[in-house]
Amino acid sequence: MNGKNIMMTLALIAAIGVKAQTEVPAPQNVYARQSVSLNGDWNYFVDQQEQGYYDYRMNPTRWGYFVNAKPQRPSDLVEYDFDACPTMRVPGDWNTQDEQLFLYEGTVWFKKDFTIDNSKSRRLLYFGAVNYDAIVYVNGKMAGRHVGGFTPFCYDVTDLVKEGKNFVIVKVDNKRHADNVPTLIFDWWNYGGITRDVLLLSVGETYIEDYTLNLVTSLQESNSKKRTINFSLVLNREEAGQEVTLSIPELKMKQKFTTNEKGQINSQLLVPSSKLTLWSPENPKLYKVLLERGDEVIQDEIGFRTIETRGRQLLLNGKPIFLRGVCSHEETAYTSRRCNSAADADTLLSWARQLGCNFIRLAHYPHNEHAVREAERQGFLLWSEIPVYWTISWQNENTYANAENQLRSMIRRDHNRAAIIIWSLANETPHSDARDKFLGRLATTARSLDNTRLISMAMEVTGASNYVNRLQDNMNKYVDVVSFNQYIGWYRDVNDAPKMKWEIPYEKPVIISEFGGGAKAGLHGDKGQRWTEEFQENLYRENLAMLDKIEGLAGTCPWVLKDFRSPRRPLPGIQDGFNRKGLFSDQGQRKKSFYVLRDWYEKKK
Ligand code: GCU
Repeated sequence: MNGKNIMMTLALIAAIGVKAQTEVPAPQNVYARQSVSLNGDWNYFVDQQEQGYYDYRMNPTRWGYFVNAKPQRPSDLVEYDFDACPTMRVPGDWNTQDEQLFLYEGTVWFKKDFTIDNSKSRRLLYFGAVNYDAIVYVNGKMAGRHVGGFTPFCYDVTDLVKEGKNFVIVKVDNKRHADNVPTLIFDWWNYGGITRDVLLLSVGETYIEDYTLNLVTSLQESNSKKRTINFSLVLNREEAGQEVTLSIPELKMKQKFTTNEKGQINSQLLVPSSKLTLWSPENPKLYKVLLERGDEVIQDEIGFRTIETRGRQLLLNGKPIFLRGVCSHEETAYTSRRCNSAADADTLLSWARQLGCNFIRLAHYPHNEHAVREAERQGFLLWSEIPVYWTISWQNENTYANAENQLRSMIRRDHNRAAIIIWSLANETPHSDARDKFLGRLATTARSLDNTRLISMAMEVTGASNYVNRLQDNMNKYVDVVSFNQYIGWYRDVNDAPKMKWEIPYEKPVIISEFGGGAKAGLHGDKGQRWTEEFQENLYRENLAMLDKIEGLAGTCPWVLKDFRSPRRPLPGIQDGFNRKGLFSDQGQRKKSFYVLRDWYEKKK
């Protein structure tokens, strides 16, 4: 190995081996905390060979981009200058902000200046998400490294910042790898960048790190005069005797609690049933909740509901419900970029509303917190999912740790969102012992983190014979809801639909988590002509007629709300880099299948 390779290897070991000394759990409900937003224009530049990282050891001043060196003498050689670079908006993907980066998969460096006042609080640097591999430096020192493109992470940077001027530099690498989660192949655009909010939080030495409020699910209770709400809270450190006041003004509740020796509260509240309005799609009631600990005040909006199963029925607040759903990627209407705000979500939610939906499958990764809260405010039930998608490296322990970390982060961020009723662990993962072991561990973890919601995953049916589909999946013992994708009419002849039989030998609710087919909006012709709206319309008619014959069907979420970008869909003049299975085009045109599904949902209300 020559000198350069040794240096590069040392740099790699040094950099990757450095455990993030500063990583802390992302606090619950960051938007209610004292913070400064670092959203806005960030300088950026592309580093295809990652010389700013691997060549750093050879000459820090010349190559150590994250030290943000400036020439001190006229003869100094520094071959980069963030401040002379262009800027792009954060949050935002780089693909749609710089046409040279539309297809780019690699490293881009970002820099943002910020100032700090002289208050004595601790400073937490919070990222809503960065896709995919982020290394964060503050004032030239590494804060930490995070992999996973759709969940929040946070560093305590108190010891890295100073009063006055500071800067944060982030190395973002969205290259795909076989051992990543998702893996090398996936049917959506690999939007890279700092794709969600960046906040600098100010917290005390002790602060409320997490809290949970949920309605106890028990059939006995639903007829009693009192309802029980579980209340738990965790401080950032083990500190006993901290007094916390919980208020729910509309319920005329104000109760004091004290943390135990672990800095935790685990208690219950009793509320008169007559006073409590349960959250539902018809009435998405949210209560203002206040948590006060000394000068720390956190306000949240929380809905109370129960979700459970009884045989093949889904029960919301004790009553059977049919999920009139649709699948949606996190991609904006019209502009087709990564969503990152409530406004971005609102347009997509209005389209789901036009369809008559009460349920949205947030495919195939956790969507941003604004979207989840906006959907909750508007009364949509939600399925939230981690991107364990297709051919994951099931036997790689690092891959499992990554998947579990994304699961933990998803549940930690959203466990107070009444709208979310299903945590989904995977999508269309080929059967194998290694896959079953991997998913079984995830299922056990999910159950241990949150036993108030249902667990599912989008499975694949195996054709028992030409016209009999039997759902045989070892994972069925782990899930509460049996879900599977089927594409009769698209990946096999639509005329088979009326002949199909479905064998689902599990006494659990069944959701068809995907069905559908492609059409280019405005392309018309015979229903036998693929890509016409008539082809898709007929596919929906035949599939919906077939769904009506599936016993125990508790809902469906057709694939997909709107056409979305995918590098796997090149067909010129038809796909042009978009998956065309949308009920809406990317420009918001309703396709003829929209009306078929809307009318079918009308009858399911
Ligand atoms: C799969 C997969 C989707 C994909 C769809 C399709 O079912 O879950 O992510 O986009 O098929 O083929 O369009």
